[in-house]
Amino acid sequence: MTTVNQERSVPTATPVLPPGPRPWPVLGNLLPFQRDPLSYLQYLQRTYGDMATVHIGRMPMVFLFRPEYVRYILVEQPRKFRNRDVALGDDTTAREGLLTIDGEKHRQQRRAVQPAFHKKQVDSYASDIVAYTQELLLRWQVGDTVNITQDMQALTLRIVCKCLFDIDFASQLDTLGATFNDMLGTQNGILDTLFNVRIDNPITSYGRRKNAMRKMNMLIYTLLAQRRAETGGEHHDVLSMLLEAEDGEQPNQTLSDKQIHDHILTFIAAGHETTAIALSWTFYLLARHPEVRAKLQSELHTVLGGRPPTLEDVPKLTYTDWVLSESMRLYPPAWLQARFATEDFELGGTSFSAGTRLVVSQWVLHRSPDYWEQPEVFRPERWDPANGDPAPPGAYFPFGGGPRICIGMPFAQLEARLVLAMIMQRFDPQVPADYEPGILPVITLRPRNPLRARLLPAPTANASSNWEPHMLAPAPLAIQENRGCRPALLNLLGGLRL
Ligand code: HEM
Repeated sequence: MTTVNQERSVPTATPVLPPGPRPWPVLGNLLPFQRDPLSYLQYLQRTYGDMATVHIGRMPMVFLFRPEYVRYILVEQPRKFRNRDVALGDDTTAREGLLTIDGEKHRQQRRAVQPAFHKKQVDSYASDIVAYTQELLLRWQVGDTVNITQDMQALTLRIVCKCLFDIDFASQLDTLGATFNDMLGTQNGILDTLFNVRIDNPITSYGRRKNAMRKMNMLIYTLLAQRRAETGGEHHDVLSMLLEAEDGEQPNQTLSDKQIHDHILTFIAAGHETTAIALSWTFYLLARHPEVRAKLQSELHTVLGGRPPTLEDVPKLTYTDWVLSESMRLYPPAWLQARFATEDFELGGTSFSAGTRLVVSQWVLHRSPDYWEQPEVFRPERWDPANGDPAPPGAYFPFGGGPRICIGMPFAQLEARLVLAMIMQRFDPQVPADYEPGILPVITLRPRNPLRARLLPAPTANASSNWEPHMLAPAPLAIQENRGCRPALLNLLGGLRL
């Protein structure tokens, strides 16, 4: 059994770390890193090459910039590294979730929820994805200006809650989304990062985050209590799998409420924010590249001919797939991952001690001219297999890799393809020429300014296409009737005044 050995995490020798920018007393390299982490990382790669050491306060972190190193950490030797204890800050709310547990615990608990992400199960999510997207499209009218970022967040949040937890938050999505924004969309301040100065007050970002977490905790514990209290009624969702799962370290012990809570929070947060962001960036890129938009819409017209997509259509939407891959290359929703070495190791001729903190970054690798031809150019055709591999293994990893590869990857890919296809088949979202998205690198890589677009009809949209309200799948109504705990949860949301 692999357990995390605390003693081995103590460095066994004084580490000689790779060179990097000179750290300031106390602050280390925090100021330039915090001011513009994306440019700073690229500067580090240009200046120091394959690896560089940066000090966040007094804590050294080694950034690795070669695809082989990414593969070593994520795919080849993942057991030498753990996820825990690498995050900056103390956001311990989801510490027992899948993202931040390690060793045997991680292996067993991941296996327990894996059935929710098997192909057949993921395929079964397609009808809800299509039905909810159709509902959104019935609200959107030609000529409207819509907030794509917000609408994608609400849509993906609704989809993930329904598919994984069998609950429809239809009318509460804006408030639920706002709570997630407070939780995930704020940056730590310098005092916060360096000195653990945490003022729990509504005017600080820490206070807002804490407040949002309190609301979310209450919601999740209520959902859990109600499911535990339910008699009869079969569910085949992630929650029912979690209720049956074993801890993995404690033999025959099922998960505690805190563990299940952390899993739920992780799944909802990781399962909507990333896909929503990927879609948002994709609409932005399409708005700026009319030639790509035209090819995409032509494929949609040829494959779908104006009708809503089905699961069987998805493999035929190859250009749609390339567009999404290329969008996640330029704007990877998860832009860096950190690890903590649990034993000594050697990489690229450098010896590292146990306890070293390491970081790999999609942002840097996906845009590195060392591995990509014209990396700054948005060109979906680079994903055409006829053109060979666009980059070496390890240079593209939007979903991570190895045993910790994103468990939701097949879900996200299906969802993103269906949603993108349905929207672009119907509309041409026009983004004002002076719109600058900016980039907000928080836990995910968000557009700093929400993407607003004016909806023009897609040139291939068929006025008499099958988009009438009667086409709406009956699923949402059925969900409302079936959910014993739903009214209570909605009351709770209302009562919380999120
Ligand atoms: C475009 C969408 C998505 C992207 C780019 C993405 C990206 C990632 C990445 C890079 C990791 C690896 C993190 C690491 O190695 O430390 C990850 C892990 C994870 N993702 Fe996703 N994700 C997406 C969608 C989803 C969805 C839809 C779900 C759930 C329904 C999900 C749930 C998770 C979970 C639970 C983990 C932790 C897996 C583990 O450690 O075993 N993600 N994701």
